[in-house]
Amino acid sequence: MDKFTALLSLIAFVLVFKQRLRVNGITDTTKDDHFMGILGAIVDTSSRIGKEESVAMQMAVEDFFKKSNHSLVLNIRNSKGEPWQAALAAILGPQTWEEVSLVAEIGTQSHIPIVSLADATSKWETELWTFLVQASPNQLKQMEAIAAMIQFWEWHQVTIIYEEKDFSATAVISYLSNALKEVGAEISHYVALPSLASSWSEHLEGLKIRQNRVFVVHLSLPLAIELFEKAKRMKMMEKDCVWLITDPFASLVLSLNASTISSMQGIVGVKSYIPKNEPHFRDFHDKFCQRFSLEYPEEDNHEPSIFAAQAYDAARTVAFAMREKKQGRQQILSNILQSDFHGLSGKVQFTDQTISPAHTFQIINVMGESYIELGFWSDGLGFSQSIGEIAIFSSSMNGLGQVFWPGRARDTPKGWSPPTSANPLKIGVPTRATFKQYLKVEVQQDYLGNNISFSYKGLAIDLFTATLQELPFDLPYKFFPSMEHLML
Ligand SMILES: *[C@@H]1O[C@H](CO)[C@@H](O)[C@H](O)[C@H]1NC(C)=O
Ligand SMILES: *[C@@H]1O[C@H](CO)[C@@H](O)[C@H](O)[C@H]1NC(C)=O
Ligand SMILES: *[C@@H]1O[C@H](CO)[C@@H](O)[C@H](O)[C@H]1NC(C)=O
Repeated sequence: MDKFTALLSLIAFVLVFKQRLRVNGITDTTKDDHFMGILGAIVDTSSRIGKEESVAMQMAVEDFFKKSNHSLVLNIRNSKGEPWQAALAAILGPQTWEEVSLVAEIGTQSHIPIVSLADATSKWETELWTFLVQASPNQLKQMEAIAAMIQFWEWHQVTIIYEEKDFSATAVISYLSNALKEVGAEISHYVALPSLASSWSEHLEGLKIRQNRVFVVHLSLPLAIELFEKAKRMKMMEKDCVWLITDPFASLVLSLNASTISSMQGIVGVKSYIPKNEPHFRDFHDKFCQRFSLEYPEEDNHEPSIFAAQAYDAARTVAFAMREKKQGRQQILSNILQSDFHGLSGKVQFTDQTISPAHTFQIINVMGESYIELGFWSDGLGFSQSIGEIAIFSSSMNGLGQVFWPGRARDTPKGWSPPTSANPLKIGVPTRATFKQYLKVEVQQDYLGNNISFSYKGLAIDLFTATLQELPFDLPYKFFPSMEHLML
């Protein structure tokens, strides 16, 4: 419902905007020589990401003015709000695939550069929409970091949990699936959650019944909060469970308050890396915190995430692309694409209308009211405790910090739950064994032909039960007849 309304308002905006553009041409808003133009930004100011983006973009435009004495008007529009009344030099920030596709179409027709901050854009999109620029780096390599951790901890099966309506999930899942195959593991279950958390119980009950206990969560912030609150109530944030999280959620853990984070203890996450020790980031960080707390006092934490850094870099890119007066939009686009600088989020450089993909990620472990920084994973290099010239890389995570798993366990979980009498190990016994002495399944039924039961006999069964006697622990099991012909 919510997304649908947003979509409708976007369509309305695009239609009205298109009309205005035809009627007004380019509006001369001011005669000031130092005025460069109007930059539009689409931001969902009800979300944490949108709030951060909005503050960061304003800061970028102000910093641009300080440096160049050229002013730009930043016109921020809520993604659910009223359409723009003015002609724009560029549009920044659509965050979802639906928004990008709608705005990119109009941008291409009207030759307005659209600088997207959505998850990822595929090649066909930038080919189709020649004025679309992808300014937030492709994060798919995160899935290789997840696979490398799964390999190191020797798990073989994982369950992936994602949002049913998430357009980017398909790419993420297929990338993860391939990365896992490379390390001898697989996605054994796919759990697509509806956007409405009240209809999740069936999906989550399913998680509990299965023996697999390694969950990879690829969800937005609000849904991830819901998921972990429910998981905690279902006693799935305890010993033997493994929860691995990715972006966007992993990069926003810092924004959570203490009561929310208490249901997430022991989660391990892969998040975007921010070069936060660089002086220009430190400077940005302090100003951002101050500004953010004034504009959004309702937020519990004011730290900028990667989304603020990317929005700042994107706004800065566009501002510098516009610094010559009276440039056509084609020229602005080509200036954007020639950008080459070290931004807050990393290197800003474009190939095929797309910013270079991210290659380094940070690994975190949620503990107490925040998280521990365990280390890093870099594409082609592996794990390291630090980053930069002194970094030593390895395929092992032994050099990284100690992980605290759910239930404060220090030993690496096995990744599957041991069978219990309520949830015994299920063993399929072939019904058509070649050698009856070896294995035989007998069917019994009462005189009416009802109440069918099976008995399992033979050397294989005797051997199995004898072995169980030798085990130092109790292993509840249940045979069931398997119709498949499995014999050698
Ligand atoms: C900056 O622009 C203003 C006009 O907007 C002008 O009066 C001032 O001299 C300029 N300053 C510099 C350092 O160029
Ligand atoms: C913590 O954050 C959650 C989710 O944003 C919110 O529902 C809750 O009211 C907050 N709790 C406190 C104590 O601020
Ligand atoms: C079905 O058979 C089992 C043993 O084969 C017996 O214990 C049970 O009482 C029977 N149930 C009914 C309803 O006949």
